[in-house]
Amino acid sequence: GMWPEDVGILELQLVVPGTYVDQTELEKFHGVSAGKYTIGLGQDKMGFCSDREDINSLCLTALSQLVEKSGISYSDIGRLEVGTETILDKSKSVKSVLMQLFEESGNHDVEGLDTTNACYGGTSALMNALSWVESSAWDGRLAVVIAGDIAIYAEGAARPTGGAGAVAMLIGPNAPLVIERGLRSTYMAHAYDFYKPNLDSEYPVVDGKLSIECYLKALDKCYQSYCQKARKLSGLTGESNDAVGINSFDGIVFHSPFCKLVEKSFARLVLNDFLSTPQELIPQLYPGLDLFKGVKLEDTYFNREVEKGFMAFSKELFNRKTKPSLLLSNQVGNMYTASLYGGLVSYLCSKPIQELVGQRVGLFSYGSGLASSMYSIKIIEGPKLTKLLSNLKSVIPLLNSRKKIDPTEFSKTMEIREVNHSKAPYKPVGSLSWLFPGTWYLNQVDENHRRTYQKI
Ligand code: HMG
Repeated sequence: GMWPEDVGILELQLVVPGTYVDQTELEKFHGVSAGKYTIGLGQDKMGFCSDREDINSLCLTALSQLVEKSGISYSDIGRLEVGTETILDKSKSVKSVLMQLFEESGNHDVEGLDTTNACYGGTSALMNALSWVESSAWDGRLAVVIAGDIAIYAEGAARPTGGAGAVAMLIGPNAPLVIERGLRSTYMAHAYDFYKPNLDSEYPVVDGKLSIECYLKALDKCYQSYCQKARKLSGLTGESNDAVGINSFDGIVFHSPFCKLVEKSFARLVLNDFLSTPQELIPQLYPGLDLFKGVKLEDTYFNREVEKGFMAFSKELFNRKTKPSLLLSNQVGNMYTASLYGGLVSYLCSKPIQELVGQRVGLFSYGSGLASSMYSIKIIEGPKLTKLLSNLKSVIPLLNSRKKIDPTEFSKTMEIREVNHSKAPYKPVGSLSWLFPGTWYLNQVDENHRRTYQKI
């Protein structure tokens, strides 16, 4: 019939800032104990932008590079969505700013706008794009989704968990990364764990501990409901079933606010599997974990013994299925909406094509406030996969060609952003030498807050 086959991701384009601060240097600069950010949080480098970049310029770069690399033209795009929580304007969308790039093609028939809820906006935008391709409104053209953010925190405990970046995705039928149908679970609830009530500031209000609890609870709920759907879809009713549980995934990618939480989250999926395993199979399947048989999930968010036991037990599985997805999180930091998709990019960069073909990858998306979903991707062999992967070959050289900036200058740069965040007129002062060639940047803000951009 009319339903297009194998709808999913055709191309991925990553954008990261040209500058970073080293987390070991940041530990010294902040006067915290050595290892707190690098070992405690699992973060090595943090990407950041000067006042030369804002969410519009990041997305202009992401879209223009996606179009260039994938060899499509602007008139091939029928829908464009942006997921971001980096808000510059309460009315005008980032998407509308991106329409400047369509001007030359004459294509103004482009559906879609911005979606916002913390780190989840990119996933919501992706779901919208997939729905469009699978709907009666689809006109045969492609969709583009951009997840992008500038993640910065006020000085204090959360500052080392910042980052910045964008991932643009080309969406359409017959894709090499197919979003599996009928396997999507969602958990949403009201929480004040991380939010941005102060419209004059780029900084969020954060309850760090609550945010971790909310994240882990959302993970449990999404995973349980995903497993239920997988069990139903498999047609097998028995408790142990290869179509369900951690072994049904070759890779699992998580929203990553910092790498350590993802390592704990992986162990939590194993804990969930453990708790749904028939008692008599536990000694054989989970040797050494017998003592945790009676635990209740909701009592274990900060239970050190459970955490340690399951992290040790799952270490080898974690190293195989999830660690490869943490390259960008470790090297750039939290990119908010782009963090999960940076995880997917990292995973795809970590393995040769022969290994990736046929794999199933699970994805967990979390946005504070809170919204979360779990879904999965199947990797399909063919020339489109070869093209997607060869376009990602530039990722590691790009990371390695960034400029390291010392913490004093990083801190000054944050102050400049802070003071001038909503100033008009404003002329950015950041050095153009910090930008990669091909980057769009903020040229100026006029007296009526109108922003203009240029490309270096
Ligand atoms: P903190 O309170 O400074 O850190 O803030 P801590 O004292 O808990 O230490 C962190 C870890 O380092 C601990 O590990 C320490 O033991 C360890 P744990 O015990 O928990 O495993 N540690 C050390 N390890 C080795 N050597 C040392 C050392 N010292 C300490 N010398 C916190 C940490 C994450 C709370 C803070 O950075 C924060 O508030 N960050 C922002 C919020 C956040 O990232 N939340 C994550 C979940 S919510 C989410 O993902 C959504 C989000 O992306 C936003 C959105 O949706 O838009 C954030």
